[in-house]
Amino acid sequence: MEEEETIFSKAVELLKNGNVVAFPTETVYGLGASVFCEEAIQKIFSIKRRPSDNPLIVHISHVEDVKKLAVDIPKAFYLLSEVFWPGPLTVVLKKHPSVPALASAGQPSIAVRMPAHPLALRLIEAVGEPLVAPSANLSGRPSPTSSADVREDLKDLVPLILEGGECLIGIESTVISLLGPDPVILRPGAVTLEQLEAALGMPVRLAREKDPIASPGMRHRHYAPRAKVHLAFRSEEIRPSSSHIISSEPLESALVFNRRNFYARLREADRLGASEITIYCGPSVQKDAGLMNRIVRSAGLL
Ligand code: TXA
Ligand code: MG
Repeated sequence: MEEEETIFSKAVELLKNGNVVAFPTETVYGLGASVFCEEAIQKIFSIKRRPSDNPLIVHISHVEDVKKLAVDIPKAFYLLSEVFWPGPLTVVLKKHPSVPALASAGQPSIAVRMPAHPLALRLIEAVGEPLVAPSANLSGRPSPTSSADVREDLKDLVPLILEGGECLIGIESTVISLLGPDPVILRPGAVTLEQLEAALGMPVRLAREKDPIASPGMRHRHYAPRAKVHLAFRSEEIRPSSSHIISSEPLESALVFNRRNFYARLREADRLGASEITIYCGPSVQKDAGLMNRIVRSAGLL
């Protein structure tokens, strides 16, 4: 217990002194840096080998902190934060001029989220400043949902990884933009379009791939294992030659996956040296827009 506290204090010191720290959230593990420290933000981009045009999400522990990060905040923001925060929803707003351009990769907007993991909230609170945090993986790899996953990608590259157990959600937050007259989902996730419409009392649209407004991050290769991924939507489509099968439904010779362990299953297949993975998407995942988005991307189809 005492050791945990010592590690936590060290994490706070590192973040206050321009370093990066990996920490758990309820969605995936994040690689954090103080939003007002450009040197530390630069470290995030180089450690992850993240394309410099891909903006970061800023994590806060109190709703009022949004005022340090954004201006012209619409009423819709408060409707959403009231219902979904802390939780797996990121809201894109007009950026406050004092937020370094590096955090938003030069965009005039800024993405903000209040995570639901108690350790993440405590960390932000103790550092006293919002933390930018992309997923704590090497760019293009499946996001990490345990500290072991973070170590697999970043062991020698980050000074500290906070232990917070396995992530409960398992895929990254839903990202919604409130920049235009109509709210637009830039990245689907655990918070659904229907839930967002109910909270806002107005229609919400899903960004199309070619939309100029779409999340810059969605343009890059994402969530992919090293193995080639083949998708099957009916059991007849499962290739008998496939060395590794993961399935949303119980199936002989397949490992079952769900939203929470999907990325872990991809990493597992890579560790086993699988050259081809078949993902069988049965009825239970076809309804999950967030998970389907990651599945299709892991196959390089989006
Ligand atoms: O659940 C999550 O959101 C996790 C945890 C750590 O909080 N974070 C995460 O960060 O997934 P990252 O960097 O892997 O993904 C951020 C996504 C990217 O698709 C990026 O393009 C989009 O959010 N984004 C960030 N700022 C944006 C902005 N100003 N406008 C549009 N999209 C933005
Ligand atoms: Mg990511």
